[in-house]
Amino acid sequence: MGMTNRNAVVTGAGSGIGRGIVEAFLADGYTVWASDLSDDRLAETREALNNSEALRTRAVDVTDYAGLEGLADTVIGEGGSLDAWVNCAGIFDGYADVLETSPELWDKVLTINLTGSFYGARIAAARMTEQKSGRIITVGSVAGQRGAADGIAYAASKAGIEGMTRRLAVDVGHAGVTANVVAPGVIRTNLRATSEEILGDLVSSQQRGIGVSNPEFLDFLIPAKRSGLISEVAAVVVFLASDGAGYVNGQVLPVDGGWTAS
Ligand SMILES: NC(=O)c1ccc[n+]([C@@H]2O[C@H](COP(=O)([O-])OP(=O)(O)OC[C@H]3O[C@@H](n4cnc5c(N)ncnc54)[C@H](O)[C@@H]3O)[C@@H](O)[C@H]2O)c1
Repeated sequence: MGMTNRNAVVTGAGSGIGRGIVEAFLADGYTVWASDLSDDRLAETREALNNSEALRTRAVDVTDYAGLEGLADTVIGEGGSLDAWVNCAGIFDGYADVLETSPELWDKVLTINLTGSFYGARIAAARMTEQKSGRIITVGSVAGQRGAADGIAYAASKAGIEGMTRRLAVDVGHAGVTANVVAPGVIRTNLRATSEEILGDLVSSQQRGIGVSNPEFLDFLIPAKRSGLISEVAAVVVFLASDGAGYVNGQVLPVDGGWTAS
């Protein structure tokens, strides 16, 4: 068990990896502020986590800067510190290549994945550098380093997260704050379905069947020869938020079964 009376904010917490990160923080004694675009999915998170007393939920779109600021102010307004901010909200582009990616699809993916993460990072950095502690953790992807892992907009957004985080680390390190990226490989979640729901016609129907999570791919490219568990990503996020990770700053930690090493 970690320390008590710590607050963590997690975006994209209505599903998948975000929900798993909420669960892991709760297990470590944090009060967790789970936010997501979708109120319905947040309700599912509450139910899945047995309406934990230490769980707060608020619907916020990560492209709404004022909404994210309001969330941070609520955490601090309740007399607490902002100890961990996790940018997890993201959508993926159905492996759309350069010609399949319309300017609209590009803008939407970059705005949610990269700009939304910058908004969260800026809001957290302002408060954490003032309180002289805190952890900013952003969920990237192997697509930040591997061109064939996803579509062009998604790959650009995740590579952008890595560059942003290196500069962020430089900016906040003096105040005892760290900023890092956790970069998952293949994890079974609702990412495809929720992304299709959000992107609608921006992603073509041909792209919907494509995927890297088929058994041949996993066997060929991933030394672990399996997809990863949500809990295996969440555990690394909670580690980066811990006191023990205080000297880890500006880094990308792949959680990919060895994919990027191969
Ligand atoms: N599943 C994987 O294999 C995998 C691999 C690498 C990285 N990731 C990253 O992990 C993160 C979580 O994805 P997941 O796989 O758990 O997918 P998911 O679809 O299960 O969860 C994503 C959540 O983000 C929310 N969301 C989307 N747009 C939002 C917005 N504008 N504002 C607030 N919330 C928004 C969705 O409502 C959803 O609840 C994403 O950043 C994704 O890119 C996933």
